[in-house]
Amino acid sequence: MTKILKVVGASWLQTKISSYVLGILGVLAILALFVGQIERIQEDGNYAATVFYSEKTGYRIEYWGQSNELADIPKGAARAYFRMDVETTGWSLLEVETNPLFPDEIQAYAAGIVEGALTWSLIHNHLENTIRERCDGTSLEKQCNKLRDALDKSVDIWKSHADERGSVDPFWHQVSLYYIQISGIFTGWKHGVERSQNEYDTDISDLYWLNSVGEVTEIQHKLNISLDADVIDALPDLSSGFLRIANETVEGSTFKKIYLAQNKAASYTSMTRILKRYKLNYHQTSKNTSELVPGLTVDFSGYPGSVTSQDEFYFVKGDHRLAISGISLKNYNDKLWKEVNITHQVPLGPRVHAANHLAQNVSSWAHILAGSNSGTGSKQWLVVDFDMLDQVNEPPLEENHSRHINNYIVTESTITRDVKHTVIHANSSINRSKGLAWLVEQVPGRTHSADLSEALLVQGYWATYGLPFFNDISEDTQIHHMEKLYGNVFSEAESPRAVLFKRGFKNATSLDSIVKLMRQNNVTAINRASNETDCDSGLSCMIDETGYWSVLGVRGDMVHKHKEAYGIIDTKVISGMTNQMSTEFNALSGPPYTKINTTKFNKGNVAPIYTHQFDNKPSIDGLEIRDLVKHQIEEARQEDLEYLNRDVIKPFQWSESEYKDRKRLGLPDNWAFQPIIPKWSW
Ligand SMILES: *[C@@H]1O[C@H](CO)[C@@H](O)[C@H](O)[C@H]1NC(C)=O
Ligand SMILES: *[C@@H]1O[C@H](CO)[C@@H](O)[C@H](O)[C@H]1NC(C)=O
Ligand SMILES: *[C@@H]1O[C@H](CO)[C@@H](O)[C@H](O)[C@H]1NC(C)=O
Ligand SMILES: *[C@@H]1O[C@H](CO)[C@@H](O)[C@H](O)[C@H]1NC(C)=O
Ligand SMILES: *[C@@H]1O[C@H](CO)[C@@H](O)[C@H](O)[C@H]1NC(C)=O
Ligand SMILES: *[C@@H]1O[C@H](CO)[C@@H](O)[C@H](O)[C@H]1NC(C)=O
Ligand SMILES: *[C@@H]1O[C@H](CO)[C@@H](O)[C@H](O)[C@H]1NC(C)=O
Ligand SMILES: *[C@@H]1O[C@H](CO)[C@@H](O)[C@H](O)[C@H]1NC(C)=O
Ligand SMILES: *[C@@H]1O[C@H](CO)[C@@H](O)[C@H](O)[C@H]1NC(C)=O
Ligand SMILES: *[C@@H]1O[C@H](CO)[C@@H](O)[C@H](O)[C@H]1NC(C)=O
Ligand SMILES: *[C@@H]1O[C@H](CO)[C@@H](O)[C@H](O)[C@H]1NC(C)=O
Ligand SMILES: *[C@@H]1O[C@H](CO)[C@@H](O)[C@H](O)[C@H]1NC(C)=O
Repeated sequence: MTKILKVVGASWLQTKISSYVLGILGVLAILALFVGQIERIQEDGNYAATVFYSEKTGYRIEYWGQSNELADIPKGAARAYFRMDVETTGWSLLEVETNPLFPDEIQAYAAGIVEGALTWSLIHNHLENTIRERCDGTSLEKQCNKLRDALDKSVDIWKSHADERGSVDPFWHQVSLYYIQISGIFTGWKHGVERSQNEYDTDISDLYWLNSVGEVTEIQHKLNISLDADVIDALPDLSSGFLRIANETVEGSTFKKIYLAQNKAASYTSMTRILKRYKLNYHQTSKNTSELVPGLTVDFSGYPGSVTSQDEFYFVKGDHRLAISGISLKNYNDKLWKEVNITHQVPLGPRVHAANHLAQNVSSWAHILAGSNSGTGSKQWLVVDFDMLDQVNEPPLEENHSRHINNYIVTESTITRDVKHTVIHANSSINRSKGLAWLVEQVPGRTHSADLSEALLVQGYWATYGLPFFNDISEDTQIHHMEKLYGNVFSEAESPRAVLFKRGFKNATSLDSIVKLMRQNNVTAINRASNETDCDSGLSCMIDETGYWSVLGVRGDMVHKHKEAYGIIDTKVISGMTNQMSTEFNALSGPPYTKINTTKFNKGNVAPIYTHQFDNKPSIDGLEIRDLVKHQIEEARQEDLEYLNRDVIKPFQWSESEYKDRKRLGLPDNWAFQPIIPKWSW
């Protein structure tokens, strides 16, 4: 065992704490893995590492001591910095940077290795808390294996396919890099586990699953299996996206400021969260003369082991600045499942990865996503180009600002049988595409996108809440039919969340007010709903509780029926302003809560009468009076606090909840976090 050196100003050689030869990237797999000396792992949760590559020795990883300046960490083929801040902020931070001097395949594999090696314990915890908890040794094991086989088969097909075409076709080149990076994570993960001397299972198909979390719903339908039998699954996605453009006055001048916000609904056991920055210096194709791609840096809210967000919330920087949010669309049309095919069409993960790196603008992002649509991971996407903010002009004011967007004119053009493009514009002005913001809705067999710029400028906001805006998408997924059966929970224009946004957007003009809107709750609705319903299972019963299930900051642990450790688990906001290159990424982890009001006030009861004179008069009467009065003060104070806090929602705390026995390796107990702005070093 060598000691960890923490010598200020020490050379790299001295602070180097371990060194391994990892192996050589063959076609896509590892040829060899030699484990060197086992090192003590640093305890403070901050790690940096570099993966070096040479043709002779293959891949080698080195871990760096704490005293090093992060900027000076050798780049190798890829370097990474990881902070395990989950206990203090609810997020861990991971940044990975690759070296453009290396071929893309080596960058991708090295990026994967360094991530897997630094985050191996989170990958392990996340798997245990989610997939393995549900599958291993349970009645679902067979179905899980069926899903796993389907994913493995799809990966095998696309890996070899992409390999053949990557040298000439930018899209296939990105698909290939996507899978290489995942293979790299597997190598790094295995290495991390071995280095820690733990005997954890590592299986690459677990990683394929972690990278498909947002797509397995559709695959399950296709395979006729069901891993999430919950009725929650039948409701529209409880996550929401919110795009807002507002005036901001700075030193007397008015600027336009744009915000893209998203909250994510998921199981609380999936709250092993990582904010990631990937600075991947990829090229258009695998030819060594090809140019760098437009999207080099991708920041996103993510999970262990997955190279795309799964929340589908990204900020992409390079030649442009794009922000992207995807909210799931549910399908209620059995016939549509036939369009789901992950062996003949490309799954969502690689398509989003390709769109993020290759798109030059919102329109090309949508077109890349539309190509080879597997029908999995159906979403409504908001895509915003911050660089266009300076170029768009305010359209003429409409007489009536409160008109819902459905009154706008929609001009459609069909691009292919499966892909439609639309421009949404105010009645009075020209139907021009402006490229500031796009809405893209994709379901099995169909993609429909629209330029929203003008509608956004006129209306001031656009919201997505899991109900399709486009008629053809609604019809394909039979949302209208659901609306007839179950009411306005399925209505794009009138659903409770549509109304909450319609009412709430005006006051949501700053970071704080937007976060407040996105996490808004309603205690009255919880109590009322639970008393009014008299059924206890099924979708229609749950719909009766929609008074609660349709608030923006929904918390399934608080309802009375269908109680579940499921709900909003985070809120993210990206904002930027005209005439400014800088953008801000804010992220808040954990289920919504409100702060407790501890203000003291009296409602004119006995309390003011009491004076301390009784304290020192130990007569029987005095004591009794004193205790009585003190007791009354305490009661009044309690009542006041209860009154003031009647709408207060406490932070979610595992140990105080009904779910205290759930498997939750590595998850904080109390979720009372504040928004953070991740500070990146590179
Ligand atoms: C789907 O599975 C159920 C049993 O789990 C079976 O009853 C049904 O016939 C299956 N449907 C199809 C289309 O295979
Ligand atoms: C924002 O500012 C512009 C120009 O300064 C003005 O024309 C517009 O009415 C303002 N919009 C709102 C909603 O205040
Ligand atoms: C590209 O590859 C060719 C052959 O593999 C090599 O001769 C050339 O020097 C390389 N160019 C660069 C810029 O690396
Ligand atoms: C996908 O499509 C191909 C060709 O249309 C077909 O042969 C294959 O069975 C389909 N796979 C699934 C899972 O539907
Ligand atoms: C968007 O980018 C694509 C290439 O990615 C380009 O062909 C197209 O002209 C661009 N559109 C606009 C409006 O700039
Ligand atoms: C604006 O439109 C809404 C709904 O169409 C209507 O209720 C309202 O009265 C209108 N306001 C004005 C000022 O015309
Ligand atoms: C556009 O506005 C005109 C008058 O303001 C109205 O007659 C027409 O029906 C509107 N068109 C649409 C599609 O709403
Ligand atoms: C506006 O839409 C109509 C179809 O409704 C189309 O004919 C026309 O060319 C469009 N105008 C512009 C400027 O795109
Ligand atoms: C918006 O803010 C104003 C002023 O603070 C307040 O009077 C109004 O009730 C708020 N509206 C909503 C819908 O919260
Ligand atoms: C809360 O829910 C109650 C009952 O469903 C409803 O009447 C009230 O308007 C809601 N409050 C807000 C702020 O939405
Ligand atoms: C609903 O029932 C609970 C007890 O089950 C009670 O505490 C609460 O006050 C009731 N709420 C309403 C609005 O009646
Ligand atoms: C607490 O309640 C008092 C009295 O209603 C109010 O003035 C104060 O603003 C509240 N504080 C917070 C943090 O909500």
